[in-house]
Amino acid sequence: MSAHGTPAPLQTRNAGPLTGTAEVPGDKSISHRALIFGAMAVGETRITGLLEGQDVLDTGRAMQALGAEVVHHEDGSWSVHGVGVGGFSEPDHVIDCGNSGTGVRLIMGAVATHGFATTFTGDASLTSRPMARVTDPLALFGAQAFGRTGGRLPLTLIGASDPVPVRYATPVPSAQVKSAVLLAGLNAPGETVVIEREATRDHSERMLAGFGATIATEENGEGRVITLKGRPELQPQEIAVPRDPSSAAFPVCAALITEGSDVLVPNIGLNPTRAGLFETLREMGADLAYENPREEGGEPVADLHARFSPEMKGICVPPERAASMIDEYPVLSVVAAFAEGVTDMPGVAELRVKESDRIDAMAQGLRAAGVTVDEGDDWWRVHGRGPGGVEGGVTVAARLDHRIAMSFLCLGMASINPVTVDDASPISTSFPIFEPLMTSLGAAFSRPEG
Ligand code: S3P
Repeated sequence: MSAHGTPAPLQTRNAGPLTGTAEVPGDKSISHRALIFGAMAVGETRITGLLEGQDVLDTGRAMQALGAEVVHHEDGSWSVHGVGVGGFSEPDHVIDCGNSGTGVRLIMGAVATHGFATTFTGDASLTSRPMARVTDPLALFGAQAFGRTGGRLPLTLIGASDPVPVRYATPVPSAQVKSAVLLAGLNAPGETVVIEREATRDHSERMLAGFGATIATEENGEGRVITLKGRPELQPQEIAVPRDPSSAAFPVCAALITEGSDVLVPNIGLNPTRAGLFETLREMGADLAYENPREEGGEPVADLHARFSPEMKGICVPPERAASMIDEYPVLSVVAAFAEGVTDMPGVAELRVKESDRIDAMAQGLRAAGVTVDEGDDWWRVHGRGPGGVEGGVTVAARLDHRIAMSFLCLGMASINPVTVDDASPISTSFPIFEPLMTSLGAAFSRPEG
């Protein structure tokens, strides 16, 4: 099934080296947050480098439905005229978050402490994903959720009109859950506290501090304890969204496995809560350099320089690193297929509840392409076939999951025979220029009959 109803099959084949510069789009996580926090500030927030992928555009529309004004300027920048903390108004239609778990979960948090009803829905992928992980902590503020069995979408959330602050230890390592609680805490009196055992991406904390909220993070025996003072007046910001390391992962990994490649991916955010993939690749022996390391907008940034790496060896990826590369395991499994030896990926139960069950989706496609994969509930293992050793010659199911589609298209750039994904349309949710950008590096795409 396609994000827009009509499947769009897409094929890649090994067309020789990938070379040149890959300017990947803005960070998806930061783009969602820029729109949402901008909508909760008083006055105009100006955003450059916003990811104009479907997920983020859906969040922008949701902010408009809640009363904020969102404007796309001719120079490509965006403005959000915020309504202030507590200033959202009841939307007069259903909020459709499309494919985006981040969008729906963060927006649920934002409306949970407003005394009105909001109904959320999404596509076939999103309506099958668990929402109780967010509605459970939001109930502690006084919000009520009425969803389908298992707390799934479509779901109506009635926000608390007289919210209380909350102290909540997240049971799963999830920046979406953490952020939903912090967003709800913005319009609760007193201090809201979120405790996470493992560090997850900290864009919400950084951005809230930037918008002028009083927020502190302390590490103690419980983990990371984040304390937010409720009911601040958020000050509008100028936000330059850094480029997305999760999108950079695709040209970087494709270059590492495709003979003769040499690709520069400039200006990539290397926030330690996001950069686990690159560290892992370097441990595997990838020729991946961080050039020109610097700091921009409070985030570490570098130009990534990736060259074909025939010497890569499988490793065991430390489970404590999982949160910092959770979206990158699918493409890592593709690199692992071209490495020598076994790559073990333990402690990754969360991969089973992403846009698809990513362990199952990758394992099935890799096996069809001639790669041995073992799996359990929260782990998987890829038996590498060495450089040039992956057969390919398959059509795989993308399962409405952009990262599954892009991972298999990268596989096809280096495998012996072409690889087809049954539907590439979900790629537009996060990386709308994937095909032209990879084509500019030398990748060869074609459109088989659907
Ligand atoms: C995201 C958090 C992660 C990640 C998702 C983006 C975010 O999800 O997989 O793509 O922006 O907060 P979880 O919070 O479910 O781990």
